[in-house]
This record gives sequence, C-alpha cells and structure tokens, in this order.
Amino acid sequence: MKKVLVAGAMLLWLSGVANAQDPEAVYAKACAACHNGQLPMAPKRGDKAAWEPRVAKGMDAMVQSVTNGLNAMPPRGLCMDCSAEDYQAVIKLMSE
Ligand code: HEC
Repeated sequence: MKKVLVAGAMLLWLSGVANAQDPEAVYAKACAACHNGQLPMAPKRGDKAAWEPRVAKGMDAMVQSVTNGLNAMPPRGLCMDCSAEDYQAVIKLMSE
C-alpha cells in the first residue's frame, strides 16, 4: 500500500513538472475561488466585457500580473506549481 502511494505521488510530481497542467483543473483548484463572481473586483470567467481591457494589455502583462500579484490578487493566483504556460492556458479559458 505504501509503495503504491509513493509511486502515485511520484507520478503526480512528475506530471506536474514535465507537462502543462489541465487548465480546467487549475482554474477549479486555484482561480475559481475569486474569478467565479464571488469577488466583484476579479474579472469573472467568460465575462468578455470585464476581460476586454485586461486582454488589451497583452498576454505577457496578464501572466506578469498573476505571477507577481495585482491588488487583491495574491502572487501566483494561489497556484504554486503553475508555470507561465499554465497561466496562459487558464487566462485563455477565463477570458473567452
Ligand atoms: C484571492 C483571489 C484571486 C485568486 C485566487 C486569483 N485571482 Fe486573478 N484577480 C483577482 C483580482 C481581485 C483581480 C483584479 C485585480 C485588479 O485589477 O485590481 C484579478 C485579476 C486577474 C487578471 C487580470 C490581470 C491584469 O493584468 O489585469 C488575470 C489574468 C488573473 N486575475 C488571472 C488569475 C489566474 C490565472 C488565477 C489562478 C491561477 C487567479 N487569477 C487567481 C483575484 C484573484
């Protein structure tokens, strides 16, 4: 049993390091807490009008904001194991 757990943990760790994460999963575990409409200042998923001025800044600027934090958004958007590519994928998901 222990061995299985260890192997499972290794797999999880490896997949987190080697591959991009599933944007839906990242959104659900980290970003949805605020970007689901609970926090009025946070642009809501799928709310094109709210995202428009942010998208206009460019993807790099938005990834920067998440990585460093922006006002009420904490650094890394609470996803500690997200790469820049992961953020890009989730931002696409939220802003479309
Ligand atoms: C604790 C709440 C919180 C969490 C968790 C959070 N955000 Fe945010 N986010 C905010 C708030 C609030 C803003 C608006 C900040 C502002 O403009 O004052 C924001 C803004 C943004 C923006 C626009 C940045 C810009 O430059 O205008 C992006 C992109 C973003 N969030 C992505 C994410 C992603 C991706 C995640 C998950 C990995 C995430 N956020 C998690 C609260 C959160």
